[in-house]
Amino acid sequence: MFEELAEKARIALYDKYSLGDLVVPWRRPQERAHGDAATTVALQLAKNLKKKPQEVAQVLCDALKQCASVEKAEVAGAGYVNVWLTPEALIRELQTTETACAQWPTRKGEGPVIIDYSQPNIAKPLGVHHILSTVVGQCLCNVHRHLGYEVIGWNYIGDWGTQFGKLAVAWEKWGKGKPVSEHSLDELLELYVRFHAEAEKDKTLDEAARAAFLKLEQGDKNLRSFWEGVVQVTKASLSAIYERLHVRFDLDIGESFYEDKMQPILEEGKKKSVFVKGEEGSLIVMFKEEEKLPPFLVQKGDGATLYATRDLAQIRYRIDTYHPQAILYVVDVAQQLYFQQLFKTVSRLDWKLPLLEHVVFGRMRFKEKAMSTRKGTVLKLEHVLDEAVTRAREAIAEHRDSIQTDDENALAEMMGTGALVYGILSQNRKMDLIFDWEKVLALEGNSAPYLQYTHARACSVLRKAGSKDAPSLRNVDVFTDYVFTEHERSLIGMLLQFADALEEARAQRMPHTLANYLYGLCQEFNSFYNVEPILKAEGATKALRLFLTSLTARVLKTGAFLLTLRVPERM
Ligand code: ARG
Repeated sequence: MFEELAEKARIALYDKYSLGDLVVPWRRPQERAHGDAATTVALQLAKNLKKKPQEVAQVLCDALKQCASVEKAEVAGAGYVNVWLTPEALIRELQTTETACAQWPTRKGEGPVIIDYSQPNIAKPLGVHHILSTVVGQCLCNVHRHLGYEVIGWNYIGDWGTQFGKLAVAWEKWGKGKPVSEHSLDELLELYVRFHAEAEKDKTLDEAARAAFLKLEQGDKNLRSFWEGVVQVTKASLSAIYERLHVRFDLDIGESFYEDKMQPILEEGKKKSVFVKGEEGSLIVMFKEEEKLPPFLVQKGDGATLYATRDLAQIRYRIDTYHPQAILYVVDVAQQLYFQQLFKTVSRLDWKLPLLEHVVFGRMRFKEKAMSTRKGTVLKLEHVLDEAVTRAREAIAEHRDSIQTDDENALAEMMGTGALVYGILSQNRKMDLIFDWEKVLALEGNSAPYLQYTHARACSVLRKAGSKDAPSLRNVDVFTDYVFTEHERSLIGMLLQFADALEEARAQRMPHTLANYLYGLCQEFNSFYNVEPILKAEGATKALRLFLTSLTARVLKTGAFLLTLRVPERM
């Protein structure tokens, strides 16, 4: 549609001002009052043409009025051009929304987008804070993939470090001879906690742990198989939670993988004088004064490598192996400085780099209670998920009259986990998050249950209409003299924004823009539903309204899936 407008505008500018081959950019205004398409091109051209912007805009409007698809074209404000399309053109334009509900064709030759997310540390259960990186990352994977990007979703697990020495010692001493693989994750955590308590009293323990980790690094067989056991136990326990959250990774290559890939980088950095001697024989990166970054430690004085060294090796490995167009790190704000140092360091190494981006998110706070349990240990994500489902079950019981379901448990799981996840993804990730159980589980308002309920409502209309196939655009007779009701018009306007909302969420890495869009669509659909008869309408009107209902359901379902949610057919 915009192509037709762009072409008309191009010709007009050529005829009037002899401007050659201008691509006139059109966008869909956010405000309904500004029509269906708008351009600022007159404002941009006026100065060079030595004309008033309004005058240039008027030239465009006069030309655009001749397009068959244009109902009205107006100059607004300082020189904007606003265009209203005919009902026929608008209905045809809904094709783009239908298309946007299906996976887009794969983009060729661009290289994958690597998304590094979730990244839990081994031997510990997932804490509630892990949900942030996990669902933001999964949503970004889903949206990119949907829009045709090749994606590598990467769980960069923290499976290496001195903590394994401690755990090995604790297991030897207090593990009662039970093989690691038979320990639960909670038992492993207990051993780890006990190590810290006992090490306060017995100083030899730390020494023993260091020795054990050194042996592990040197490839000791027993320690190696102990470590493998720990990784196995942890992964098994993680996968149950990931499944509940509809989270799926392509790779879970963790920190240990880079053990033998760091030395060449350290050599390279020294040779290029990017890594210089710091205190006590350590290696550091010094930044320029105007960069205002503290020195970056890449190797300790005793030769030990660090988290940073592994990330350097990892970037090299990812570039060499996958030739990505971008690497996104979904990691909390505490590591902001770290990523600045890391990215500056690799650019100093003069590598040919993909886009490197730290997709930052703030901290999460519960409105009613602290995030930590009394002992100061973190609240387990599993428990929070269970609590969400319990609360959802209560909400279902409370609304028994208005909620219908044949499987209450499945609905509670869908609603509870959905509420938790949506409660996070509907907020601007850059801000601290406030989590309010009451709000996220409410059936009204910007919540998962509201979205789920609206989807089910649309499905129920379609069921009652009894058509076997979902009404598609093909069922709607395109008519020129149709006059939309106000609610039809608003709903169409909202539906037409879906593709843009997806692209915006992707480009800005902002799941909440998609969530907010879906919320707006739910509101628009519900107003339409409350006012306009659908099943009792007749002829062309009925066909159109059923189609709008069906398209709303498809957009809600697609959008919800991209946010990692599920929606019921009945509720
Ligand atoms: N596992 C790390 C942590 O718990 C986060 C890893 C983030 N990803 C990365 N490539 N550094 O702090």
